[in-house]
Amino acid sequence: FGGRPYRAAVITLSDQGAAGRREDRSGPAIAARLEASGYEIIERLLLPDGLEPLRGQLIRLCDQRQPDLILTTGGTGFSPRDVTPEATLAVAERQAPGIAEAIRAHSLSITPRAMLSRGVSVLRGGTLIVNLPGSVKAVEESLDCFLEVLPHGLEVLR
Ligand code: MTE
Repeated sequence: FGGRPYRAAVITLSDQGAAGRREDRSGPAIAARLEASGYEIIERLLLPDGLEPLRGQLIRLCDQRQPDLILTTGGTGFSPRDVTPEATLAVAERQAPGIAEAIRAHSLSITPRAMLSRGVSVLRGGTLIVNLPGSVKAVEESLDCFLEVLPHGLEVLR
């Protein structure tokens, strides 16, 4: 980016992953894409589904480590344990719905199941938080549609 790199954190929400019963492939896929785009990854977390762990980590990250960007993966569906959007909205100071809208619009051209993701995008302080669905395929397709545009938004956030 010319100046200092944008700092990003990546959070995977997965009961199976956090219990060590399933390998997290989506978190690393996001981190790899971000690094290839010049971001510095300051933290990667693997949390169980549920409101409180994510809410607490989002507040800590935004208020103390102050990354430019936090991407979450997983927990955006309809299962009762899927509460990533609720945890994200609980820490939001301002809404930034355009990114979630773009993800769903782009993803709907690939699969109608994209309408089943409830992901949101919000701002807290100088941090943009974006929810991505859980699968590697969904993560890659989502990043395809907004990663290129992000620097323009992040620059204004600084
Ligand atoms: N978005 C894209 N781009 N590609 C996908 O394959 N899968 C959908 C949706 N969004 C998908 C997608 C499916 S099947 C579900 S259930 C929801 O994301 C929620 O996924 P999550 O519960 O893993 O967050």
